Amino acid sequence: MRIIEAKDYADMSRKAANVISAQVILEPRSVLGLATGSTPIGAYSQLIDWYKKGDIDFSLTKSVNLDEYIGLDGSDDQSYRYFMNRNFFDSINIKKENTFVPNGKAADMEAECKRYDELIDSLGGIDLQLLGIGHDGHIGFNEPGAAFEKTTHIVELEEATIKANARFFGSEDKVPKKAITMGIKSIMQARKLLLIANGPDKRDIVEKALHGPVTPMVPASILQFHPNLTVVYCFN
Ligand code: GLP
Repeated sequence: MRIIEAKDYADMSRKAANVISAQVILEPRSVLGLATGSTPIGAYSQLIDWYKKGDIDFSLTKSVNLDEYIGLDGSDDQSYRYFMNRNFFDSINIKKENTFVPNGKAADMEAECKRYDELIDSLGGIDLQLLGIGHDGHIGFNEPGAAFEKTTHIVELEEATIKANARFFGSEDKVPKKAITMGIKSIMQARKLLLIANGPDKRDIVEKALHGPVTPMVPASILQFHPNLTVVYCFN
């Protein structure tokens, strides 16, 4: 595990963007595993900046996202598909058809889970997976208690997660109660992992995840077992 302490949010974002850009420059055909939440926004905007300066080319790159709310269409401004388009894909030269987010509106969600796992396999797996972390230690939407061996599956969101994400929806009752997420097993199969965390409110959970016992009650603690994990954090 490599742990990099950043000076502030901008520094954390640049360092994370550096890791991602190195991946794309060295292997232009990389499959990037991407994440939503407020934490990665700065890294995405830094990558956009470097793309505009001509430093990075995403034309051969593919991406798979971790998760999506169930019931939200990609055109809904709270969906993770919409988030990715607005915060990243619309401003770089990745081909939209090479960007994948689980479909939260699929008629058969079980079939959608299977399709998503097969899709990741067909792309040859994930080269670099970016991860944020929830206050309860969730990664993607794998909430405490989720079995480590799960691949893509449906989850009921924890009350704490609904509360934390209400800030994007305006009120708690508007937050979907269910999501589709890559499982811990899918995440652990990525060849490299990059975990980012920002803010004083993330200090305790990051400490527990990186240095505490490995337990499904802290889903991110399993990352300790990954052979190629980089963590960039800033708790200021
Ligand atoms: C959501 C996402 C996670 C993300 C987490 C933390 O629940 N599903 O992938 O890591 O929020 O979000 P933030 O970065 O806003 O703290």
